[in-house]
Amino acid sequence: MVSTEKSYEERIRWFNEARFGIFVHWGLYAILGRGEWVMFLERIPADEYAQLAKRFKPSKFDANAWAALAKEAGAKYMVLTTRHHDGFCLFDSKVSDFTSVKTAAKRDFVAEYVEALRKAGLRVGFYYSLLDWRFPGYFDREAYPESAKALVEQAHAQVRELMTNYGKIDILWYDGGWVPGLQQEEIADFWRSRELNAMVRSLQPDIIINNRSGLPEDFDTPEQRVAASESGRAWESCMTIGTGAWGYVHHESNFRSVPQLIQYLVTAASGEGNFLLNVGPKPDGTIRREEVWRLREIGNWLAVNGESIYGSERCPFTAKSVGLTTAKGNNAYVHVFRWPKQGEITVPGIKNEIKQATVLATGQKAIVERGTNARTFLKGLPKTPPDRYDTVIKLELDGKPEAC
Ligand code: GLC
Repeated sequence: MVSTEKSYEERIRWFNEARFGIFVHWGLYAILGRGEWVMFLERIPADEYAQLAKRFKPSKFDANAWAALAKEAGAKYMVLTTRHHDGFCLFDSKVSDFTSVKTAAKRDFVAEYVEALRKAGLRVGFYYSLLDWRFPGYFDREAYPESAKALVEQAHAQVRELMTNYGKIDILWYDGGWVPGLQQEEIADFWRSRELNAMVRSLQPDIIINNRSGLPEDFDTPEQRVAASESGRAWESCMTIGTGAWGYVHHESNFRSVPQLIQYLVTAASGEGNFLLNVGPKPDGTIRREEVWRLREIGNWLAVNGESIYGSERCPFTAKSVGLTTAKGNNAYVHVFRWPKQGEITVPGIKNEIKQATVLATGQKAIVERGTNARTFLKGLPKTPPDRYDTVIKLELDGKPEAC
């Protein structure tokens, strides 16, 4: 019998090519403007919190604008919170009334989002929080066993809805798998994750699933830091642009800078990983200008330097004195975060013959000189950085990059 099932390598290929995605945390919490954990942290009772749904009428929500911004940023996919820990769904659900379709907005934002992404040629990711703070059984399984059971059943039913009603979905991004009092290895049993993910894969055979349902599945998800998994295992670092919360924070005092964000992206790419950068749209559905501007700057940088990021591979030699290296096929890319003022860059440990060295930002060819002790000198470069964020120098080699 010929198996029609795709291998892990086949399913994950597009994801490794993509390298850059946009995360969107948006829901009722945006109205309060104090992050997505506000209900829990400020002890807002569920019925009081639910009143927010009456005010959730995002007049300027435009999924096409989100998708256009993601494209401008150079991202290849998006992941949207279809529901967060507060349980409020941005999609139509038969098993819950606490949704944007059945309350004031009367809109299926997930449907609009999926349609916009497809039109824009972006891959579609769904974030789904398994936990739902409205269920007392989540916090105390012994006192409320029926509620705990209902919580798990709701998750299974809603994941089924998400996997059935919106066509082809590329990523299922679980969160909120942790359960008070349970160890990591007990989590998959509580949520019946094996059964859940088998159902997901039967409905969406090509999907990739993250590691937050208590099972490793397809990729790892380090949060607010960039940390590579072992070679061959896909991974994606997610990060906020502001200082901590993922949902909209009205009084945000600090935003990560463009060079910082580009360096995180390059760090992920250098370890064959992805970077999922988050925005927290405002209650009206628009994205704040501080985030828009940063995404556009990253996009401008990627438009010139994208070949060093998309589909990147690990490069066996480094360039630690100036920045990092990535690779692809027979090319290596030196990412210069700290431009040396003499206009000369030393890269140690390149074994290959170098055919050509080109500054991607300007097209300028560098003079390549091989020195003693395996040092390579890239000379004739300007004294000021041609790219203010990260100047990339492409090294065309005689074969796959090798270190000595
Ligand atoms: C955490 C938080 C959550 C956020 C997520 C993103 O698990 O609980 O608010 O959605 O990280 O990775």
